Amino acid sequence: MGLHTRLLAALSVLLLSSQGPAIAEASAIPHEPHTQGRERISINSEWRFLRSENNTDGIVYDIRNDTSGNPQVLKSWILPSANDFIKDPAGRHERPASDPSSIPSLAEKSLDDSAWEDVTLPHDWAIKGPFYTGDNPVVPGTMGRLPVHGVGWYRRKISVSSADEAKSIFLDIDGAQAYAMVWLNDKLVGGWPYGYNSFRLDLTPYLVPGDDNLLAIRIDNPNHSSRWYPGGGIYRNVWLTKVDSTHVGQWGTYITSRSVSAESACLDLSVQIENTATTESERTVQASTDVFLWDPKTGTKGHKVASFPPVTVSVSAGDKQTVNSTVTVAKPQLWTPRNPSLYVAVTSLFSDSKGHPIDTYETQFGIRSVTYDPNQGLLVNGEHVYVQGVNNHHDLGALGAAFNVRAAERQLEILQEMGCNAIRMSHNPPAPELLELTDRMGFLVMDEVFDSWQKNKTPNDFHLIFDDWHEADLRAMVRRDRNHPSIVAWSYGNEVGEQASGQAGADISTSLRAIVAEEDPTRPSTASVNSAMPGQPFPGALEIISLNYQGAGIRNTNPYSNLNGIRTQPLYPTYHSLYPDKMIWTSESASALSTRGTYIFPVSSEISAPVNDTSGGDPKALQVSAYELYTAGFGSSVDKVFGSQEANPFVAGEFVWTGWDYIGEPTPYDLARSSYSGIIDLAGFKKDRFYAYQSQWRPDLRMAHILPHWTWPDRVGKVTPVHVFSAADEAELFLNGESLGKKTKRPGIDYRFRWDDVVYQPGELTVKTYKDGQPWADKTVKTVGAAAGIRLTADRAVLKAGDSTDLSFITAEVIDSEGNVVPQADNAITFSLDGPGEVVATDNGDPGSMVAFPSKERKAYSGLALAIVRASGPVILKATGEGLAGSELSISVL
Ligand code: GAL
Repeated sequence: MGLHTRLLAALSVLLLSSQGPAIAEASAIPHEPHTQGRERISINSEWRFLRSENNTDGIVYDIRNDTSGNPQVLKSWILPSANDFIKDPAGRHERPASDPSSIPSLAEKSLDDSAWEDVTLPHDWAIKGPFYTGDNPVVPGTMGRLPVHGVGWYRRKISVSSADEAKSIFLDIDGAQAYAMVWLNDKLVGGWPYGYNSFRLDLTPYLVPGDDNLLAIRIDNPNHSSRWYPGGGIYRNVWLTKVDSTHVGQWGTYITSRSVSAESACLDLSVQIENTATTESERTVQASTDVFLWDPKTGTKGHKVASFPPVTVSVSAGDKQTVNSTVTVAKPQLWTPRNPSLYVAVTSLFSDSKGHPIDTYETQFGIRSVTYDPNQGLLVNGEHVYVQGVNNHHDLGALGAAFNVRAAERQLEILQEMGCNAIRMSHNPPAPELLELTDRMGFLVMDEVFDSWQKNKTPNDFHLIFDDWHEADLRAMVRRDRNHPSIVAWSYGNEVGEQASGQAGADISTSLRAIVAEEDPTRPSTASVNSAMPGQPFPGALEIISLNYQGAGIRNTNPYSNLNGIRTQPLYPTYHSLYPDKMIWTSESASALSTRGTYIFPVSSEISAPVNDTSGGDPKALQVSAYELYTAGFGSSVDKVFGSQEANPFVAGEFVWTGWDYIGEPTPYDLARSSYSGIIDLAGFKKDRFYAYQSQWRPDLRMAHILPHWTWPDRVGKVTPVHVFSAADEAELFLNGESLGKKTKRPGIDYRFRWDDVVYQPGELTVKTYKDGQPWADKTVKTVGAAAGIRLTADRAVLKAGDSTDLSFITAEVIDSEGNVVPQADNAITFSLDGPGEVVATDNGDPGSMVAFPSKERKAYSGLALAIVRASGPVILKATGEGLAGSELSISVL
């Protein structure tokens, strides 16, 4: 069946394997408070933590190139943790007959860990720094110059009441970076090497109910293992799941929808029921599932819309059975990016007729169809949705990799304001809560698992474990995430080296594609291509043609002609004619670079140019000009990309590299700490490029944005180009009331208005814009005075009571005596907090700043700084700076 046809029929989907936490300690996304028969308990608090830079505990998952001495290799005891995700029984791993010959002393139950650090998860051990500065840093610039490397131990007591003796007790870790190994009461339970996947270990055989149990988790995070900042440690949520020994299995429900229309939708449900008992031979249970409307924001169910017919099944001890049922929902509220309606399916397992479920499992999902059309792109419920997407790395700026729901929600809110409707999870599965956010906020998602296969990109990356773990990691991602309506495609690779290895690379791709199709036949999969060419085996093996940079052309225009590296003409038309039955989109576009509010002269007259030390870049200050014309050597400016997208309307859309700046990969300046490619800087402040995207992606928004700022004491009489982003088609610029001319956009060619000959004079610069001959939006920027004070503004001045993860993101602006932001201000600002709370981190978005993120003193960068505040009661944030009038801001907690 062709992709198009298959998807017309299919598309589904659904939700989240979310059960309610019995102790809602850390979840800001409301879950059901309690479900009968099952408890999901957050164990994020009360951990003891110890990290060493080197591997001193005498054990290792497997020998690596950086292994020294003669450590004990524990791989054979870790591999069986993958078994549920290995299809061929012959490929599953047998646990060695005996335990490892010794246990590391740091795992021993009797160890006194009272001197270790107290930490709460999610925890990123590296984010506090300090940064390694200068040449030859211990951790390279690509990995963010932060101390991510080494071995970290986490220890915690777990108490389980003797009443739970007969229950199954699982440890669910949403993500640990990397090579997690888990001991309970001096026994090695198992582990999971890949740092981005969620995994479950069965603690039941090792737990002693009614007694204290000691859980010890070892994390080994190799240096030179990543092309970006990976973070280090247990950086996502950790749960204990207590449930009857016969229960819905891990990620055990799968709901898809067929024949979707406004009138009705047919839902197919499968429930995997697992019996982990060792004493009983067989258990007969009835599974029944009711479907309700669901408001994820408040965590409330609406009315019941359907009930799947109950199914009875017998499951032997140690076995799993899957039951299927189907129901039709009348007049479904369809999930769309604009109106992301959700449902929750509540599955109950009964073992007798008394009506008390032995397990209750909730699945959030959405009902929608998606068509992947080679000529039109994506249709959601039959309506065309152009993919206005961005790539997103997993770090949260100054908060690091430690997942925080509010920080992720803020990232999505700012992207949504820009008109963004899609996220590519580059290049690894995200925190589960991020997918809850994309479901409820209406983003389309490409969920991605690997950046490398057998061929490495860095010496210690995933290629070391690809052969043993790729199947388990790929199946685990799809199984965990396949109920999310926001996910529209799976990606099993990004720019892998195997692209260039002819049929052999295509064959690996085909085998990964087959795994995805087994786990989720309703969505297509892909792997991103940057160097394979149309007609070569690799793209031919893909379901979606997913291009990095090739669509707009790579190094194909004059300003790039002297650069070495891949060079291609814009390849959309060639791919389209060679693969007429495949949808095409761009999984990475642009790689445009800039630092917010920094303008470097002279300005290129081209529409796209590579940044270098004499054009667009300042290698001493580690800054790239924010004229938004400059790019990585293989990249294209936003203007050039828009031109190529519009010229090829069959293309489904693009995912820009990147929405937000991220830590590490600081192209073009290895001395810096974070990227330059974000449309939004690391602190969350908008670069000028934000408005380029807004003008194109929200064409109805009456907006005009002028760059640069207009306070240039050193530029009087000098040429200072003025550019304007707006959805208007005509614009007239005025300097101190005098017209500098009217410009008209050439459709398909111009994506900004530019007056490149403006001679700077202080005063007022105004643009008046027009669309279809009618006034559209006006904007004025003016020359401002000296820095005189600080203005504090909170994104939210009221935090949620009882939610220790809630955060307020507070912007400090350096202002003149009239309240105008001083655009080049770099005054040092000191933050302090009165009341029960803390300034968790500060930043200013400057990729060259080596000030550690927890610092309470932070220089403004281009007039702005950020303080991130947590509070358990009313607090007052104070900001002071030499020569500046200080400022205060109250945050309350309700
Ligand atoms: C791409 C790659 C991304 C990132 C980007 C930098 O080639 O897929 O992960 O490295 O370049 O601009």
